[in-house]
Amino acid sequence: MTTTEIPQGTLVGNRYLIQQVLGQGGFGRTYKAYDQHRFGKPCVLKEFIPRTNNPQGLQKAQELFEREAKILFQLKHPQIPEFFGTFSENGRLFIVQEYVDGKNYWTLLRERQHFSEAEVIRLLDAILPILDYIHEQNIFHRDISPDNIMQPNNLNQLPVLIDFGVVKQIYATGINNTSLLESHTRVGKRGYAPPEQMQLGQCFPSSDLYALASTAIFLLTGKTPNVLAWESHPSLSKEFQKVLKKMLKDKPNERYQSAKEVIAALQSQATIQQSQQLPGSTKVPNNEVTVPPSIASVTTTAGQAFPYLLGFLTVLLVVGIGVAVLSPYIPIVCSVLNNCVQNRKTPQTQPSSPPPSPTNLETTPPTNGQPTPSKLPSCRDVLFGDCSP
Ligand SMILES: Nc1ncnc2c1ncn2[C@@H]1O[C@H](COP(=O)(O)OP(=O)(O)OP(=O)(O)O)[C@@H](O)[C@H]1O
Ligand SMILES: [Mg+2]
Repeated sequence: MTTTEIPQGTLVGNRYLIQQVLGQGGFGRTYKAYDQHRFGKPCVLKEFIPRTNNPQGLQKAQELFEREAKILFQLKHPQIPEFFGTFSENGRLFIVQEYVDGKNYWTLLRERQHFSEAEVIRLLDAILPILDYIHEQNIFHRDISPDNIMQPNNLNQLPVLIDFGVVKQIYATGINNTSLLESHTRVGKRGYAPPEQMQLGQCFPSSDLYALASTAIFLLTGKTPNVLAWESHPSLSKEFQKVLKKMLKDKPNERYQSAKEVIAALQSQATIQQSQQLPGSTKVPNNEVTVPPSIASVTTTAGQAFPYLLGFLTVLLVVGIGVAVLSPYIPIVCSVLNNCVQNRKTPQTQPSSPPPSPTNLETTPPTNGQPTPSKLPSCRDVLFGDCSP
């Protein structure tokens, strides 16, 4: 059994140039390498280190490795790295798979501190169909956690589920009582994996769902549900809380039994939230700053009145400026108007208008013998002193 790390620049399998170690797990190491048979394209090598030096044991380990790898090679899903092949060299067993250019959610969380409920729901929406796909083929992931979900750097691409350990499938075959693997080592991470998996080594579809819910809570709060009273977390809606609670039941038969059931529950939750956000509803979307209703309404009213206030002040300002500019002319205008009035008072030499016809009487108001007022002088007339009708 060889356990030393393969140095950078080593060519393994006569083809893969080791670039760096990406991770070191309980059963082996993960390397980034360049495939010399594919124009140096990046790929991932996962090394399986059987925990035995016994030649018979090693032979058995290799057989199981091949058998389980074959099952995993059947997985074809755009959100699962493609499995390219296996090979062995100097007693080391390798699996070759597609390289995902991105970051795992553990790293993202360290960079971001926390994810919002909406982001976590979007992540679940993206991961659940992958679980549905693998469970239908009787394959369980057994190790769903933030470091086994990757977001490609191209944000238009959906998250990818990694770390489908061949080893984990080997464990599932029940050979963990043999000397090949240490029987006390359970697959799954404490804090994420459900009790039946950690204590009894059992796995059901609902076991992966449990681990997915733990992952969701970790991304929301920075803590796993076993160390946090997560239900009272302020950024969690009642509806989402309900779904997570059911995914996290201790007894597997009390949880959702399939990924499809969780998808349906999340969809109906989305419907509820949408209906609560309809006009007239007081529900504020989660993770947004909550403004108390009284302040909110005052702010809204003031906000609505502001444009009118601004318009009124503008009119006042224009009128004020107008008055200020025209003020030197006001006496002139007044004197001209005064002249007009005086002119009007002097008798006119116009012929008197004929008496109104009977038809006119109906529409023309009586003048009581007074002269009918002539038309008012126009502005132009006033300003230029031409006030004749
Ligand atoms: N296909 C991949 N493309 C890009 N990076 C990967 C890929 N697979 C794994 N990694 C990176 O390497 C890290 C470790 O890999 P992985 O999760 O497969 O193994 P592990 O958790 O260290 O080991 P174990 O299989 O024993 O649990 C991941 O968290 C991820 O950052
Ligand atoms: Mg991992």
